[in-house]
Parts: sequence; C-alpha cells; structure tokens
Amino acid sequence: MPYYTKLGKLPSKRHIQFRRPDGKLYAEEVFGTEGFVGPTSTLYHINPPTQVIGWTALYSTKVEYVERDTMRMRHVKSMPLPPKGDPVTGRVVLFGNNDVEISVCVPDEPMKYFFKNGMADECFFIHFGSGTVYTMFGALKFGPRDYIVIPKGTIYQFVFDAQKQGEPEPRFLLMESVNGSHILPPPRYLSKKTAQFLEHAPYCERDLRTPEMPMTFDKKGKHEVRIKSRDLVHSYQYSYHPLDVVGWDGCYYPYCFNIDDFSPIVGKHHMPPPTHQTFEAHNFVICSFCPRPLDFHPQAIVVPYNHSNLDSDEVLYYVEGNYKARKGIEVGSLSLHPQGIPHGPHPGTPEATIGATHTNELAVMCDTFAPLYPTKAALELDDLHYPRSWEHGWEPDAATNGAAADRPSNGHANGKSSKTSKTGKNGAKNGAKNGATKGGRLVEAKTPAKTSAKSGKARAQASKSANTWD
Ligand SMILES: [Fe+2]
Repeated sequence: MPYYTKLGKLPSKRHIQFRRPDGKLYAEEVFGTEGFVGPTSTLYHINPPTQVIGWTALYSTKVEYVERDTMRMRHVKSMPLPPKGDPVTGRVVLFGNNDVEISVCVPDEPMKYFFKNGMADECFFIHFGSGTVYTMFGALKFGPRDYIVIPKGTIYQFVFDAQKQGEPEPRFLLMESVNGSHILPPPRYLSKKTAQFLEHAPYCERDLRTPEMPMTFDKKGKHEVRIKSRDLVHSYQYSYHPLDVVGWDGCYYPYCFNIDDFSPIVGKHHMPPPTHQTFEAHNFVICSFCPRPLDFHPQAIVVPYNHSNLDSDEVLYYVEGNYKARKGIEVGSLSLHPQGIPHGPHPGTPEATIGATHTNELAVMCDTFAPLYPTKAALELDDLHYPRSWEHGWEPDAATNGAAADRPSNGHANGKSSKTSKTGKNGAKNGAKNGATKGGRLVEAKTPAKTSAKSGKARAQASKSANTWD
C-alpha cells in the first residue's frame, strides 16, 4: 500500500532495543521489497522469524496451459466447478501467463495450516461468503464483494464463516502476480509528493480497511506454514504460533476494499476501461465495472464501441447483472477476448440499449499485456458457442435467429463438446421462451410494458438499464 499506517506496540525508533515483558528482546523484521527501496514494513515478533524446526517440499504448483496456438474468444462458466479443498488447495487456475494466474476457488474445507505466497501478491475478489483472514499484520474481516490484497510474503489463514441456510457456498476469484510484481493502486490516482489519493481517484484511503486486532498469538507448539515458492508448496514447521507480531508500521500490509465503495466515473460519452481501473501490477491491471448512470449525450450509444485491445488480453468475471445483452453469460462466467482481434457489443445491443439510463452490471476485469492461455480445467467449462455469437453482425434480425447458438466453434483443439455447451444451448432456448428477445432485438425485461404507450418525452425519461460489458 502507498500510505503509512501502524498497529500494536512499537519502540520510539527503528533498530533499537525493544523488550518483551520478560526482559528479552522482541525480534525485529524489516519486511522490504524491491531491494529495500519499495514499500516496506517493520514488524516486531515475540519469536525470531528465522526460527524453524523442519521443512519439506509438498507439491508442485506449476500450471500447464493448453491450446497455446488457438486464438479465439472464450467463455468459461465457473459455476459448475464442484467445491473442493481449502482456500489454497481448492484454487483452480483457469487462465494465465508468465505475469498473472487467474483462478476460481469454491472451498469446502478449512485451512488447517498457515500459508505464505512467496512468489506473488494475491488479489482476491470474494464473490460469496464471509469470514476473517488472520494475518501476521492483524485480522481482516471480509464479506461478499470485497477485494482482499495480500502482498507477497504475508503469512495468513482464511477462516470462512459457516454457510447460512439459503446462502451460496463461499466462492472467490483470485489474481496472482506470478511475475513477482506488486498489486497496487494506479500511480495516477496518487499524489507524487505525498502518495495521497487525489480527488479524481475513484476511491481513497477511507475506503480501504486495514488490519485490526487480534494480531498476536503467543502460543508454543507445532504449527505448519506452507510456503509457495519456486512453483512448489513447501511445508515449514514452527515451534510457535507464526502470527506472533506485537506491532508493526510501514507501507506494506494486506487490506480490504469493497467493490461497492468504488465510485464509478461517468461521462457524456462512453468512458473507456481505464476509468474503471482499480489496481495494477507489472503487465496487468484489475478493473471494477459497477452499477452507474450511463452516458448522457442525447444521442449516446451506451454500449462500448467495437475495440481492438491491440496490446491486451481481457478477462471479465461476471458477478451480478442482467446478462441478456451478452449471450450465454451468467453469474460466475469468465470471458476472454484476446488481443489481435476486435470485440464489441453483441448483435442487436447497440440499437436495443439506446435510451438506457443506467446499468446494474457488476464485473471484475483483468487485462494483461501478454497473451493469456487456458488450462485444461478451463476447457472442461468451455462454452463453444461463444465465439460465434457475433457471427451475424449488427443487424437486429440476426440477433435472434439462433444460427450462431446452434453451431459450436471448430476452434476447439480436442473437438469435444463440453457439458456446458449443452447448457448454453438450453440457455439460448430459454432466453427466447421468456421473452428476452422480441422483434429481433434484445429488450430489457425490467422495462415496464406500459412504457410503450407513453409519449416520446415520457419514453425518453423512462428509466431503462443496460449492461455495457467492455
Ligand atoms: Fe473490451
């Protein structure tokens, strides 16, 4: 994090005697980055953090990518992922490259150990579930729609609250900076002189939730810290509780930020994706698409123009919204639009969304500056119809003739049809049945029927929503 904060007990100066109640010295640790010129914190442990009693390599985390020679738009439905593992072992990488790994996790076991990612900063997006992540910097309570940024080297343990009746099972999206860079707010949001968030930034210090008590666990006994490093998870054994920090200060610590606290920037004309930017690391950015008023020029086209993101691959994770404007998309979907080919609104949507005044969409986007590749797990969830859903251009009648939805892409290397592709077909059929399409145009289901009887002026003032997925 760019700004200074502190928690717990600290001596008056760095690197001086600071003693425990029993008269022995606390063990100071400088938690430095980028060769001690990047963000740094200084921590005071009850026990020397160097003190370990054993270690062994446990399992490989090396990700294998497939279809590296296939370039096409992709749609992966992650909701069918079965719950498995704990918040570390249950992670399923779907897309990635040498800079970032994007995974989804539906954990169904508690973490019985502590974890440290020694390779990457981690940016979680909690889709469902709540709980506390206990870290060496203190505790962070979290809930749905929270980003949790945990910087490289932090020891932590996720504890999810018990799932209440009727609530969805815990689920999170995770972006790891496997190139070793740090996930930070964009520098253009910050004052060069003070690192304070500037007035044009869509969030500021007050929106960030920093660690709180409890922080210190003064316990002896065998504890395991699993450390991810060198594409392996190693098991390290400690003879004391690893969360034994009594105080720390600095600019390097984990924090939470709820996506509902992101203040969207809106304009007279369509605003480009950088206005949604929330975080960045080397070679990738993370953006938040939130509910907001839409462009207010009287002749505005509120959906994005076709765009060639010539230098970026673009992954969107769909959290909430009305998905009729993008065929087959549902809660938990991930779409991938690769660099090299343009993408844009689905057939029919530019006309159908004219006059829309607001959007209820909620999505998290990860744009990368190098191509992303899918994993085998992603192919298992692949919607093969998606690349052809733009096949008929912008003609309104083409949007609903079903031809695109009925023909799977030939771009799939193994030539197999996945289970989810059947779901996509049924989804298209159901969409037509429930009136999602009418007269060749996609219409907003929430628009009251009586609106059509109103005068032109009244129609112009009527509230209409549309999704504007970039
Ligand atoms: Fe885009």
